[in-house]
Amino acid sequence: MDKVKEGKIEINVPTGRIYDAAVFYNKDAEIVRDISVAVLSVFKTKVEDIEMLDALSASGVSGIRYVKEVGVKAVLNDNNPKAIELIKNNIELNSVEVEVSNKDANLIMRERLFDFIDLDPFGSPSIFMDSVARSLKYNRLLAVSATDGGALSGSFPNACFRKYAIKVGRTPYYSELGIRVLITFIMNSFARYDKAFRPLLFLIYKHYYRVYGIIEGSGKVTKMLKQYGTIDNIGPIYLGPIKDDEFIKQVIDELEKRDFKNKDKEIAILTKILREINVPFYYDISKMHLAKVPAVHDIILKLKENGFEASRSSLCDTGVKTNAKLEEFMKIL
Ligand SMILES: C[S@@+](CC[C@H](N)C(=O)[O-])C[C@H]1O[C@@H](n2cnc3c(N)ncnc32)[C@H](O)[C@@H]1O
Repeated sequence: MDKVKEGKIEINVPTGRIYDAAVFYNKDAEIVRDISVAVLSVFKTKVEDIEMLDALSASGVSGIRYVKEVGVKAVLNDNNPKAIELIKNNIELNSVEVEVSNKDANLIMRERLFDFIDLDPFGSPSIFMDSVARSLKYNRLLAVSATDGGALSGSFPNACFRKYAIKVGRTPYYSELGIRVLITFIMNSFARYDKAFRPLLFLIYKHYYRVYGIIEGSGKVTKMLKQYGTIDNIGPIYLGPIKDDEFIKQVIDELEKRDFKNKDKEIAILTKILREINVPFYYDISKMHLAKVPAVHDIILKLKENGFEASRSSLCDTGVKTNAKLEEFMKIL
């Protein structure tokens, strides 16, 4: 075992290569966990008594951090008995009170309702989402990760259709496509239970696709579904807003107050997301076969001068988000 520090906790994690270990722990995801702590803290200013489920807990790192750093009640669940041993050890190490559960995640989510669920699977969240939709209460918070970028972002259309029932293909805007496939899949799952999902924040960090959002009542389902469409033979896919700027500002303020070692990087990630406009997808100018590629900054200025909305994309350095149609965009280029 190695001892590692993250946020306000110290935990034991297996030594050696991540995927050979008896229990999973990825140091790289610390940045995502820091942001999640800040997200839950902001949410807790609106909803006081939060009972949460860390559905796939592994070492317990996320759940223990939520308890210690946000002050929520938590159930830490994993179906791997070795993970349960380690979770118990890490709970003791950090002197926190936490409920531990050694069940299939689908089972516990069928049995109980929660105010916040963090779902962080190996690969795809697809086999758990129906239970998540059943288990989350109205007006409560969801955080979901996925690491199957190839399926989500259009490299493996058959895998995407199998897991998410959405038709995709290769596109220049593949990273945002991945986020929107994940969001659409979450929405579809909740719609079956007459619940709507309102996205608050998305991010891609290394191979982690991560989405946060609020579960809303049945009155919002129709509005959500009306924002679906088909584009470039892709779909049906949600084309509405995928973030809430007010919420993101509060998360940035929360990060400012914390002493996370990667805080500057985390704030930079969120600031980039905050600055992008809420228009679906982007034009990637590096993929447009231009003889001379203009600077993204100049293109955005020109688009704005011509009355269009425009910004960078947080997911693609050479991406331009705009409400200009392709023809209009090419003229400006
Ligand atoms: C990617 S790891 C979770 C990482 C953890 N959330 C973190 O922040 O480090 C996925 C975990 O899910 C557990 N798992 C896989 N299938 C499961 C199931 N059906 N029910 C419960 N746990 C499961 C695995 O044992 C593994 O510990």
